[in-house]
Amino acid sequence: SNDLSTSELAQKYFYDYYPDEQMPIFTNPCNDKILMNLWNGNRSLCLVFPQFLIVGPQKTGTTALYSMLSQHPDLHPSKKNSITFEELQFFSNDTIYYNGINWYLSQFDSDNMDLNRSINFEKSATYFDSILAMKRIKALLPNIRLIIILTEPGTRAYSRYQHEIARTNQTIKFDDLLQLNGNQSSNEFHLRQRCLQPGHYAEYLLQWLSYFSSKQIYIIDGDAFRRDPRVILNDIQISFIQLENPLNSSELVRYNKKKGFFCPVSNNKRFQCLGKSKGRYYENMSSYARKFLNNYYLLHNRKICLNTIQLTKRFLSLSKISHTAEG
Ligand code: A3P
Repeated sequence: SNDLSTSELAQKYFYDYYPDEQMPIFTNPCNDKILMNLWNGNRSLCLVFPQFLIVGPQKTGTTALYSMLSQHPDLHPSKKNSITFEELQFFSNDTIYYNGINWYLSQFDSDNMDLNRSINFEKSATYFDSILAMKRIKALLPNIRLIIILTEPGTRAYSRYQHEIARTNQTIKFDDLLQLNGNQSSNEFHLRQRCLQPGHYAEYLLQWLSYFSSKQIYIIDGDAFRRDPRVILNDIQISFIQLENPLNSSELVRYNKKKGFFCPVSNNKRFQCLGKSKGRYYENMSSYARKFLNNYYLLHNRKICLNTIQLTKRFLSLSKISHTAEG
């Protein structure tokens, strides 16, 4: 191997021996003196990294939680952009990830903030079912706290379906979508997967647990959160994020009759209800779809209780999810 040129050596290394390493993965320079010098970063930038992430999955109430927490003066979400709106999707999207650490940090406010007291955070619902995202988050933010919202997975799948139907020109009926099989390349089959796959909760929770300790993960019962988020908002502020100045959740949210949901309220007490695409009106799913989904998720839901017991202590209504599936 002494006879190999540098580029031949690189070929061997990345293609024959360590193909996993072809893609760069960013580690945190703040935890390493040598990296810190190479990075040319300023120590105070280390405080700009987010301290918690809302990781999804999609259609479980992630935008509501994100907006409600954003009302707290010490909690600062990442900046919005025109493509993915309130989501950065840094860890789950290759193109965005390769913008690098400085780009990631530039997505958070650092001016006019008391960095010792303020906490940056972001929400990207695409992280939940991305193994690559888990790996990248672990490398850059090993001590991060993670919030996951779970709702009954059949309802989540249907909400996702409604979301796609409303914003694209697809017209397939939900019952027909569920019955599709095989043709992996069709758009419709792809849509079916996007509706069903993230609801394999146990599978993904186990993956998260292989990267992070259960203490780093807070699971929310999304169905309870949707009905009334107040107790959950208090608990997150006090016991999970451990804010110095938690606000009583009645200062963050109030029920809005017209919207039919609790809405975030700004500090001048104005309602900041979510847009029309959150809390859509649509018909109930058919009894065929309900049965199909109960059956589809039955084993997945059972595995949540069996395999992720460290997490489920906090998530009391999981048994409710599995009963729904059996019933
Ligand atoms: P539907 O529009 O299907 O009812 P996400 O933001 O993760 O994509 O989730 C969207 C879902 O959040 C909505 O799905 C809605 O049911 C739920 N949700 C929970 N609390 C809400 C709130 N306070 N306001 C609006 N939608 C809320």
